[in-house]
Amino acid sequence: MFIDPFGRAITYLRISVTDRCNLRCVYCMPKEGIHWQPRVDQLSVDEIVRVAGAAVRGGVKRIRLTGGEPLVHPHILEIVRRIASIPNIEEVTLTTNAMLLERLAQPLANAGLKRINISLDTLDPEKYRRITRGGKIDRVWSGIAAAERAHLAPLKLNTVIVRGLNADELPALARLTLEHDWHVRFIELMPIGNTQEWGEGFPTPDERYVSVQGMRAALSAFNLQPASQPQGSGPARTFRIPGALGTVGFISPLGEHFCESCNRLRLTSDGKLRSCLVVPNEVSLRGALRTGQPLEEYLHQAVSNKPARHDLQVAVSAGSQRGMSQIGG
Ligand code: 5AD
Ligand code: SF4
Repeated sequence: MFIDPFGRAITYLRISVTDRCNLRCVYCMPKEGIHWQPRVDQLSVDEIVRVAGAAVRGGVKRIRLTGGEPLVHPHILEIVRRIASIPNIEEVTLTTNAMLLERLAQPLANAGLKRINISLDTLDPEKYRRITRGGKIDRVWSGIAAAERAHLAPLKLNTVIVRGLNADELPALARLTLEHDWHVRFIELMPIGNTQEWGEGFPTPDERYVSVQGMRAALSAFNLQPASQPQGSGPARTFRIPGALGTVGFISPLGEHFCESCNRLRLTSDGKLRSCLVVPNEVSLRGALRTGQPLEEYLHQAVSNKPARHDLQVAVSAGSQRGMSQIGG
């Protein structure tokens, strides 16, 4: 079992299978994109599966595949199939922007994928195109429909809330749960990724942040009732509009409760184990993978590196950052 120095059992691994993405969300990347890691530095399918196997042998039960955008990986179905067949794994899930989901939802389910999280920040097609710099919201809706047909349930929608951009849509997004058994999760904007000017027509950096408390205030008319967490909700706090089919959750990466119950490790697509989203102490597995050494020792080292908590402001000002798309969210 992986138990960190603060007694937290590490049972959840997020694997970024690629740093590439087919969108350029304003908060994540600058317009011109980022400097992609060289292909030779990216883990191969075999290497990803070996790390997953070692992690599961050490007690990891759930694995989430992320990116970048995981569905742009040319062998994503093979990755899912091989990880889902590791003995004793409980579930493989995936976080996607859904651009490629319509065609892939059923094959992913057939490969053993259990559930899916979809990023959707607005209901307005034009605003969606602006936030993602070119994404088509129709593809999100057809991806959602395909995921439902493939029983990739319960479906979670991840919405990053930004004042002056989509905060006015909080009620409309929450209302989606009235008629759909979806879990809409509102996420505070984190000061990582692209914290610079996003360009003409976007809010300035100091206007953007909305706290979870602010979001809840904007939804006070709904009389949200505490609800039990849907499976694998990690750091979300969950509520229900009375009578709604789905739930509304709030994720405060800056809030401390996030750290106390943190059960996760991350693997970046270039083979670094990261024990915290924001604290940049990484353990590289790539050398060990490529020289055929056992991985256990490295996994244990990453677990023992887990900080008690992070201070996001300090971590960010300390520099040495990767953006979200390079860590895997
Ligand atoms: N703050 C909060 N969430 C972010 N994401 C990407 N960048 C940020 C940020 N700076 C989210 C995406 C997606 C998930 C993988 O991470 O919107 O839902
Ligand atoms: Fe791609 Fe996700 Fe970053 Fe948007 S937030 S550019 S979908 S990695």
